Amino acid sequence: MPLNDSIYYCQPVYRPPSEANSLLIQLTEGCTYRCIFCVSNLRKHFKIRTFTDIKKDLEIARKLYGSQVKRIFFLDGNAMVTPFQELKTILNYANIIFPNIEIISMYAHCKDILTKSELELKELSDLGLRMLYVGFESGYNDLLKKINKQATKEDYIKASQKLFKANITLSATLINGLGGAKNLEISNKHAIESANLINAICPSDSRKWYISFLTLMIPSGTIIYKNKSENKFIEMTSEEILNELKLFIQNIKFKNSNANCIFRANHASNYLPIKGILIRDKEYILKTIDYGIAYKEKLRPEYYRRL
Ligand SMILES: C[S@@+](CC[C@H](N)C(=O)[O-])C[C@H]1O[C@@H](n2cnc3c(N)ncnc32)[C@H](O)[C@@H]1O
Ligand code: SF4
Repeated sequence: MPLNDSIYYCQPVYRPPSEANSLLIQLTEGCTYRCIFCVSNLRKHFKIRTFTDIKKDLEIARKLYGSQVKRIFFLDGNAMVTPFQELKTILNYANIIFPNIEIISMYAHCKDILTKSELELKELSDLGLRMLYVGFESGYNDLLKKINKQATKEDYIKASQKLFKANITLSATLINGLGGAKNLEISNKHAIESANLINAICPSDSRKWYISFLTLMIPSGTIIYKNKSENKFIEMTSEEILNELKLFIQNIKFKNSNANCIFRANHASNYLPIKGILIRDKEYILKTIDYGIAYKEKLRPEYYRRL
């Protein structure tokens, strides 16, 4: 194969940890939003790549990896913003090139889901779009406003219901410590309102869905970094962070006893790796958090935490 036959990536590339073994294809570059903690929109001018360019990358991938590719993750920060017809064309072609494809996934801002109709989402799901990673960050509307998320708790409920209806698996992330330590009342509201949000979206069947907590990191170049350096934002301690998570878990109350919500707080940004199924493992998760609060020396050291 000639040397110029390599798949194009606009660096730096971010993908969920669970997509480590997926074929990564650059569909968009950057992000159309400006959340104050996020680096995805820094140093990249947003664009949707042309079908011709994406087609070429899929063909190169086919030559490199053969027809057995089972998972594709389309980059970048909110690839789901791509208009429906373009997505359909790309997914159609991905299915032709990789006939054994099982799961196509991407990051989506909540509004990228809401702007698509139920029928469109179902069509994309039938073409293999089976998982969307959506950053909820919080269920507390005042905090969502502060971080410039451009979405509300009510938007998340609507978007989640649309995904469940279209048979697209939801993987939502929230951020522990997002409200900072200046006013711990914000932390309490963040925990309780986020739990209320998760309770509200819980489907009535036993399908798998995913809720993950990352812990706030303050990357340089972000607005939150600037706020911190001007003392407008104060980071929470590891103990405050774990207490916030504890309050969240305590307030999880699903009506559906068969709920199959995979809960993870085992990202490299977290102080303590936690994993379980809600609500089944609620007591175990709470005990693990208490252990972390009691034995600080067991927590991930600050210098090992990363995004
Ligand atoms: C690359 S973003 C894509 C999500 C999608 N664009 C959205 O906003 O719905 C992935 C997720 O990583 C998390 N994240 C990004 N920056 C972070 C930071 N500085 N600290 C902690 N978590 C962060 C957020 O939960 C974010 O939604
Ligand atoms: S969190 Fe998501 S929507 Fe917000 S800037 Fe980052 S990639 Fe974009």
